[in-house]
Amino acid sequence: MTDEPTRRPVGRRGLLTGAALTAGGALAGAAALTAARHDDQGVRGAEAVPVAQVGSAVEPFHGPRQAGVATEAQAHAAFVAFDLKPGVDRAGLGRMLRLLSDDAARLTQGRPALADTEPELGLLPARLTVTFGFGPGLYRAAGVDDRRPPSVADLPPLRIDRLQPRWSGGDLLLQICADDPLTVAHAQRVLIKDSRPFAAVRWVQQGFRRAAGAEPGRTQRNLFGQLDGTANPQPGSPLETAVWVPDGPAWLRDSSTLVVRRISMNLETWDLLGRADRELAVGRRLGTGAPLTGSAEHDEPDFAALGPDGLTVIPDFSHLTRAHVTDDRLRILRRAYNYDGVPAADGTADSGLIFAAYQADITRQFLPIQRRLAERDLLNEWTTPIGSAVFAVPPGCPEGGWVGQQLLG
Ligand code: HEM
Repeated sequence: MTDEPTRRPVGRRGLLTGAALTAGGALAGAAALTAARHDDQGVRGAEAVPVAQVGSAVEPFHGPRQAGVATEAQAHAAFVAFDLKPGVDRAGLGRMLRLLSDDAARLTQGRPALADTEPELGLLPARLTVTFGFGPGLYRAAGVDDRRPPSVADLPPLRIDRLQPRWSGGDLLLQICADDPLTVAHAQRVLIKDSRPFAAVRWVQQGFRRAAGAEPGRTQRNLFGQLDGTANPQPGSPLETAVWVPDGPAWLRDSSTLVVRRISMNLETWDLLGRADRELAVGRRLGTGAPLTGSAEHDEPDFAALGPDGLTVIPDFSHLTRAHVTDDRLRILRRAYNYDGVPAADGTADSGLIFAAYQADITRQFLPIQRRLAERDLLNEWTTPIGSAVFAVPPGCPEGGWVGQQLLG
């Protein structure tokens, strides 16, 4: 006898009622998958950097807003969270942030850091951005808790959560992104060295998307093979309204907030699901990313359309239905990266998503979506949040200034 799960097709109702799960927890389903169709409908008109110039391409560091938020996502990322050392106060924080801002400014512009021990590694910025996030503990340490955006607080517990301290929390975050992994590694090392007198690394999460130039302008794919990011607010007023705080005191204007969730994706059980059921779970086609009621990626989903069985074509508990938002003020900007750790000894994958969402206000925008998903979302069968952290993303700084100056200076 083998432990092979029975391979039988899962009916639509089976999927919707969770009957797709056998007693042993394994999912039964038609496993044969056709290769994803390459379909140009997913291509958007983004300007691609010619491959020969990927290394030298530069993103600005200075400006009213921090880079790395609205910036077209780079291919590689490291999210580095720190705990402040006991006794680090407002003055100490100021010294640390000055140092970090100065070296981040240099490296992003293709100049070695001040005391760079490998200056050659600082010469190819590859669109490097370093985005600073302030956790609730930073405001407390600096004695400025009254200036903390109220939504920057631990998220309420969710029943889907299996959070591990090793992937959660943090007083300070550096989101380091570039189109070259060596650039990210070097910036990560330099900035961790800078922070040492003031803070200890709490966690590091490294992630990736397609290589720069591999599929220019196309929505990225996650490790379930889905186009991930289709419904993001687009540059212009939708993104403006969703992501940035428009007014208020200097430490709030042009700021944002960030939720980082580490979500493990069970590729072993996802493998057992047929292609049609995979598409029902999210409400979109795998090949084109089109909603099940449309034919192109950016077609509007029709949640009321009924199929011949009398059920909605896009299942009521699909990820799309549960996450869908129409009001620009309530949207979130998802800037996720895939992670793929070392597999277990038996080959079981350690894969998932570093889900990073930017929005003006976590309570008003992120939380209602997350609550709806936690309550009922077919994707929950194959995904488990194992880390969670929240940060304020302070405004940017002018040349000669430092990130956090408006708050602490
Ligand atoms: C591993 C976990 C997740 C996976 C694999 C995943 C995958 C997807 C996919 C494939 C789409 C459809 C295409 C698109 O618009 O990007 C989507 C849409 C979306 N997801 Fe997720 N997602 C995950 C977790 C989350 C979480 C935690 C949230 C927020 C709390 C979220 C919020 C959204 C939103 C807002 C949309 C757009 C819905 C719309 O307005 O059409 N997702 N996701």
